[in-house]
Amino acid sequence: MINLFQHLRNESVEAPLIQLLESVINASKEIAFRVRQGALAGVLGSTQDQNIQGETQKNLDVISNQLLKDLLLACPQVRALASEEEDTVVAGNANGEFIIAFDPLDGSSNIDINGQIGTIFSIYRAQENIAANDEAQFRQKGEQQVCAGYILYGPSTLLVITTGKGTHAFTLDATQGTFLLTANNINIPADTKEFAINMSNQRFWSDNMRRYLNDLVLGESGPRGKNFNMRWNAAMVGDVHRIISRGGIFLYPSDNRNPKQPAKLRLLYEANPMALLLENAGGKAWNENQRILEIEPRELHERVAVILGSANEVQICLKYITAEH
Ligand code: F6P
Repeated sequence: MINLFQHLRNESVEAPLIQLLESVINASKEIAFRVRQGALAGVLGSTQDQNIQGETQKNLDVISNQLLKDLLLACPQVRALASEEEDTVVAGNANGEFIIAFDPLDGSSNIDINGQIGTIFSIYRAQENIAANDEAQFRQKGEQQVCAGYILYGPSTLLVITTGKGTHAFTLDATQGTFLLTANNINIPADTKEFAINMSNQRFWSDNMRRYLNDLVLGESGPRGKNFNMRWNAAMVGDVHRIISRGGIFLYPSDNRNPKQPAKLRLLYEANPMALLLENAGGKAWNENQRILEIEPRELHERVAVILGSANEVQICLKYITAEH
């Protein structure tokens, strides 16, 4: 079986990027080990601190962030990094070729219940004439990503990655510590009968979004003429992985709960990398009015509405939410 680094070389991925990916992989293997140890590793539970997003940090979030930071800052290819757990950009090597944004442990409310969690990352070329610690380094559209991926810490540890030439999945062979190619050139079915959304938020959505969901729930007796099933992992990385594996639609729409926070998911280290993975597997990823990959980022921890998954279903959803009544 072909391993990750052979695969990257076959794809003619440049050596500096491969070197950077080695750091991500080494950190993720260490995180995977600690996740597997669970309570035995003494890492579960909350710290007193809250991160910048106002969510309570779990110890494992902090540890994962530190592992990634330490390994990435030791990598000469990293000019700067941005993390969900860091308020500001962290400067790396002034001559590094790349910048990387990551969510060290997505879906952290699943840590204590032994549920799916994952690391999401997004890599861009560093911009010349911009200081390494300047947020402006990260003001690049998602379509400029040179690589994106996630590591899913589930029953097995999986890496799903794209460097622009298709989306591929690798499974960690724990006996060798190597990621082996287990799904090449993933192709997401264009149609689906599965949706993923936190339905408890529906009173905060737009009328059009409610209309779309109502019609899904009406099933065969409604205008969609088919029954839909609902799945919600409460970890984007798990929901996206299901869609990558068998199709579906995932939505975290904007809502009117808090005018200062009209959306939940983060553009730089959640929406953009997932959008690149999805598009390179034939799927679609939009906010409510444009392709996610075309959004011009304004700030580091910016949030964005997300509608992604099977291409035809995302298209139908967009029709509903842009309809005039
Ligand atoms: O990053 C936020 C996140 O944990 C995502 O991974 C997940 O999709 C979402 O929040 C879950 O949100 P909720 O708390 O509404 O279920």
